[in-house]
Amino acid sequence: MTKIIAAITGVQGYVPEEVLTNADLAKIVDTTDEWIISRTGIKERRILRGEGQGTSVMGAEAVRKLLEKTNTKPEEVDLLICATVTPDHFFPSTANLICDKVGISFNASYDIAAACSGFLNALVTGAMFIESGRYKKVIVVGADKMSAIVDYTDRSTCVLFGDGAGAVMLEPSSDGLGLQDFILKSDGSGASHLIQKGGGSAYPPTHETIDNKWHHIHQEGQAVFKFAVTRMADVSAEIMERNNLSGDDVAFLVPHQANKRIIDATANRMGVGPEKVMLNIHKYGNTTAATIPLCLWDYESQLKKGDNLILAAFGGGFTWGSVYLKWAY
Ligand code: ACO
Repeated sequence: MTKIIAAITGVQGYVPEEVLTNADLAKIVDTTDEWIISRTGIKERRILRGEGQGTSVMGAEAVRKLLEKTNTKPEEVDLLICATVTPDHFFPSTANLICDKVGISFNASYDIAAACSGFLNALVTGAMFIESGRYKKVIVVGADKMSAIVDYTDRSTCVLFGDGAGAVMLEPSSDGLGLQDFILKSDGSGASHLIQKGGGSAYPPTHETIDNKWHHIHQEGQAVFKFAVTRMADVSAEIMERNNLSGDDVAFLVPHQANKRIIDATANRMGVGPEKVMLNIHKYGNTTAATIPLCLWDYESQLKKGDNLILAAFGGGFTWGSVYLKWAY
């Protein structure tokens, strides 16, 4: 019997129109365009504004166009998973809200929280439902409105993040194309290095939590950098090794876009040249769960059926992982 594999059969991104440049940030915190570009590779990022405008707005824009592009009727979608750490609300889930906005109902939908590795975790989860034969069409969304939790008085974090969303369609494939292998890891002992401390059940909102800025991202940049640079390269090299892939076999590395220096180190370790590294950090910054689907969207026209892609991510938790897939169209 032919093994069913989950394949990406469509991808769509969405970024808000408003652009926040390095020059704009230099007007509000003590930073420079030169520092931001040389330390991170980021030139500008997109910001979603407007009363009541949450992550689901961007997710829904991406999903609406994905349905059109893949000729899918809303009622055909079995499951929609949204990876996010900036949900519109703790509940209902952002996945529920996206479904409602695009006219998908009576299907399964829920969120996954794994910070910058959220999309990879959601992708693998969705793929398992396809591989089991249980579902035929699964949409996986990665979406974050990081501007909602960024402290725009903290120069060490506010320059890094932006808003955006990306979505992929997963369907069964019987020709061997699609998800080949994955490695997903986590280490909760890293929690204090990258955390939004307030607002959850440990520290519900009070005047004190707000005064302490516990509702914003707290990141110890150097500690996270050291961990990220080794872990993302480790899992990328490991997945290549166990699938007998050399740098020449890989069409593209699709890395989480947190810092260009981390991306370069990962590509070096894999033996993959810069021309094979998907990069859009200069345009969007770190959009957390959205970075990888936004890359796939930006590079979609350069992808060919059968291309070997290595997706790799690292983020809060700590969480990290890699996915090996063969592009299916
Ligand atoms: N402009 C100018 N100077 C700055 C800025 C800024 N925006 N930010 C920090 N600095 C200063 C610091 O104050 C420090 O000054 P000092 O030497 O006088 O103390 C100096 O620059 C160096 O600071 P570092 O923190 O050591 O800078 P570093 O080279 O480590 O870069 C960065 C900081 C970009 C945050 C880097 O550490 C990084 O990318 N970390 C990993 C991020 C990551 O991968 N996160 C995971 C994903 S995010 C998620 O999961 C939600």
